[in-house]
Amino acid sequence: MIGILGLSPSVDKIVSVENLRWGEHIGVKKIREVASGKAINVARVIKKLGGGVVIIGVAGGANGEWIKDELKKEKLRFDFVHVKRNVRQNLTIMDKLRGREIHLKEESSTIDMKELELIRKRMRKWGSKLSFFIISGRLPKGVPVDFYRETISFFKKKKVPILLDSNGPGFVRALSAVPDYIKPNLKELEELAGRRLQGRGEEIRFVKSLIKRGVNMAVVTHGPGDVLVMTSRWGLSLTPPKVRVRNTVGSGDAVAGAIAYGAVKGLRIHDMFKLSVACGTANTLSIGAGFLDIRKVNALTKKVNVKVLYNHGRNEK
Ligand SMILES: Nc1ncnc2c1ncn2[C@@H]1O[C@H](COP(=O)(O)OP(=O)(O)OP(=O)(O)O)[C@@H](O)[C@H]1O
Ligand SMILES: [Mg+2]
Repeated sequence: MIGILGLSPSVDKIVSVENLRWGEHIGVKKIREVASGKAINVARVIKKLGGGVVIIGVAGGANGEWIKDELKKEKLRFDFVHVKRNVRQNLTIMDKLRGREIHLKEESSTIDMKELELIRKRMRKWGSKLSFFIISGRLPKGVPVDFYRETISFFKKKKVPILLDSNGPGFVRALSAVPDYIKPNLKELEELAGRRLQGRGEEIRFVKSLIKRGVNMAVVTHGPGDVLVMTSRWGLSLTPPKVRVRNTVGSGDAVAGAIAYGAVKGLRIHDMFKLSVACGTANTLSIGAGFLDIRKVNALTKKVNVKVLYNHGRNEK
């Protein structure tokens, strides 16, 4: 089973309008309301692929109850700490005329020390039952900046491989505990570097320095651009298939979920990353994060182009 930590759940409401104009009264068409937050998106993808998951996280207020009901309907397993504050709500507005969308995101609800201690307990409870652990999303307010670092150290002691997909100060700090896998997009990679990375050469040099520090594998995504996958032994560049995008939210989460699934299943490297990139792209085809159509994933997997950047001796296929 794959465990996922998510401290920032949300209720995501997606509406569409014909033509968004300031100062007007505009009728909306409600398209979908979904339980979300990065951990939930990731879990949804792993379940779709056929893997077992448990989401460890928080839920509070009426929105928290709604999320729990939705997850039960989706048969997604969760172990949530009940918290005082209501779960946040995000709004996506899709503008038909412009063919564009805007995401209005509330700040994550704060978590207090007592609640955090209960999260630690949940992780200790699940620790030895898991074959992989994912940390998803940014640390909410009220949580010490070292929390992810501490979490990584805990799972490393348990010999559970860990993937970190986050951003912000908690993410940068967590790197010193050396997670096995990281999945930043370019912006997040630059956050780790503390500077702009100009061009692929500079990016690769920086990722190599992370690998020297002990990170086993770095997967850097670039939206529709090539995905860079690097370890000390081999490096790949994968081109996502071209598609008509509907909604990109959660595409990186889909990639993270598929990496964990592939690692646990022991997929061959090329297959694992073709699948991961295809899951990211398949996510752009549907509204709401993580609602993949497996037939589309399979078709897209065949269209992902892989290029070997370097291979030091071992044949990683
Ligand atoms: N426009 C696109 N066309 C095709 N594939 C895309 C597009 N945008 C994203 N993807 C797919 O999704 C993957 C992850 O995308 P991206 O780099 O945007 O992740 P991210 O910024 O971490 O997203 P999030 O954190 O919102 O989930 C890409 O590697 C690619 O496979
Ligand atoms: Mg991301």
